[in-house]
Amino acid sequence: MISPQTIEQITNRIDIIDVVSEFVKLKKRGANYLELCPFHNEKTPSFTVSPSKEIYKCFGCGKSGNTITFLMEHEKYSYAEALKWLAQRYNIEIQETEVSDETRIVQQAAESLHAVNNFAQKFFTEQLLHTEEGQSNALTYLEERGYNITTIEKFQLGYNPQIKNVFATAAIKQQFNHDILLKSGLVVNRNDELIDNYRGRIIFPIHNTTGKIIGFGARIIGSADKAPKYINTPENEIYIKSKILYGAYFARHAIDKSNECLLVEGYTDVISLHQAGIENVVASGGTSLTADQLRIIKKYTNNLTIIYDGDAAGIKAAMRGLDMALEEGLNVKLVLIPDKEDPDSYVKKVGTSSFKKFIDENKKDFILFQLEILLKEAGNDITKKSDAVNQIAESLSRINKAEDFTRRQAYTHECAAILKIDEDGLINLVNKYISERANKDDKQQHDKIETNNTETVKDNLFFHPDEAQEKNVLRVLLEYGVNKWNNKQTIAEHIFEELQQFRFDDTDMEKLFETYRKQYEEGLNPSAKTLLYHEDEKIRSLVVNVTLFPFELSQRWDEVLENIQVLNVDNSMRDVTMSLNYFKLRKIKKMFEQNQHDLQQSKNWNEMLQLMEIHKHLKGIEMEITQQLGTVIMK
Ligand code: CTP
Ligand code: MN
Repeated sequence: MISPQTIEQITNRIDIIDVVSEFVKLKKRGANYLELCPFHNEKTPSFTVSPSKEIYKCFGCGKSGNTITFLMEHEKYSYAEALKWLAQRYNIEIQETEVSDETRIVQQAAESLHAVNNFAQKFFTEQLLHTEEGQSNALTYLEERGYNITTIEKFQLGYNPQIKNVFATAAIKQQFNHDILLKSGLVVNRNDELIDNYRGRIIFPIHNTTGKIIGFGARIIGSADKAPKYINTPENEIYIKSKILYGAYFARHAIDKSNECLLVEGYTDVISLHQAGIENVVASGGTSLTADQLRIIKKYTNNLTIIYDGDAAGIKAAMRGLDMALEEGLNVKLVLIPDKEDPDSYVKKVGTSSFKKFIDENKKDFILFQLEILLKEAGNDITKKSDAVNQIAESLSRINKAEDFTRRQAYTHECAAILKIDEDGLINLVNKYISERANKDDKQQHDKIETNNTETVKDNLFFHPDEAQEKNVLRVLLEYGVNKWNNKQTIAEHIFEELQQFRFDDTDMEKLFETYRKQYEEGLNPSAKTLLYHEDEKIRSLVVNVTLFPFELSQRWDEVLENIQVLNVDNSMRDVTMSLNYFKLRKIKKMFEQNQHDLQQSKNWNEMLQLMEIHKHLKGIEMEITQQLGTVIMK
């Protein structure tokens, strides 16, 4: 964990314009900056950055946040990675809170491996581009295959010479530790001597999603008859095969913008498609997709298009792991490249626009594709056909998230038609698979689904009746809290006192309120700026939400404030008073309703009298507040 002191140092230094400009060209418009949104395709700019509020917002697609969430969205960093990026940028040394010995050892190994890989990549690229052997052996081969120098440099391709230990010698000279070198897979131990593992091979560096080199694929030059075509980095602290999607780093923005991820098999497929201007593409390395790889894709898009060559092995590999994709709610499409070609050779053969056209016209929905294959295999065989029906029903049953219900219905309808079977029968079969699986799921799984559901409902603030009033109180608290209310109190203290009897309905808002209160009571000076960088994601996004609030949601409120400005009264005090009053009025109205309801239900004379007392009391408060509000607005 990064220490709170470091986080504070970082957030003190943050300049949102400086950071966002790193990725988006910004033009100044008045107090703000405006540009085309990096998160969706648009023709007129609606991406706005406010330096004073330290937030950004796109009025087209609605994405908004602070400097850290920008890095998280745009670069797909985790919270910690975003902080590390900022620390590096501002030359702030990161202090970590205590970590266990085990974690520290892993971290150290990871850092050393990154360092070795970095060195190796530079070494191999140098060999490829600037040595006689590299040029004549490897560079000509790459050029013959049609890769231009821009592409070679972009993907940082390289070459490991044939002499047995050129790289090993250079690395040892750089003082790299033997164990780490062995772990990296770049060298192997032969009779107590370190020798190069990728001798005479073209080197494809493999980057993680943040652009760091985590390993290599090393391809033999020419055809692979005796030796394996590729040698890959062995599993180590940073090279974890199941989590790697080759090309994800180079594809991330294109996937974001096109809202589609193309998946191919190999390194050369990714590189050729990039060179052809098709950049939303990643490779799985020829094996079936893993849950971790799917998770990476889901960070960017819900639309996955798998492009494989038509051979049976490829299709089988693609099919495995796809049930998982369906469960994750991904829309999976498949395209087969014809005539023994692969995406690499095919795009070179037909060119970019024909390739794109082919993909668009031939992509088939995964389920329908699967159905087609199964039916072809079954032919007239009745047993095989009924197996096919079962298998499709099983796949359909995986589309089981609440929001995917319509999608499953549409599929079931279509599949029943293709299979020429009764739709209700298929629905029953699908439901059978669903309930079978549900029964198998342990209780823990069940709890997880339940909390997920309640969260989506809660997150949708529009369904929240007191949302506007609660938000508004938080807004004035964040905006003016540390200012003076009178000689004895700050505005924050006044708000705490006024709201003693009341509660927030929304648990997140309550949390923000309590976080503020706690920090305030600890003698800190909480504000929108400091809480914008709170470690809790919920708090951070709520702060953005609340700070933008008056400009987004409540035109009326704005008008009211404008009237006050015209009258030249102290804005903040009125703003606070009105916000508190609207909040209380709302709560009182609710109590009032509850009381009314209780009164109707009551059959006990004493209780009724009591409730009528409360009624009178609430009415009194309500009138008082209404009058106050009225005078404020009328004055
Ligand atoms: N692969 C591997 N080890 C092998 C063969 C393949 O790791 N021995 C992985 C590589 O990631 C490779 C992918 O599977 O990129 C696809 O394999 P293949 O189609 O044989 O290679 P291509 O990438 O198409 O290479 P080329 O076009 O140079 O033949
Ligand atoms: Mn190929």
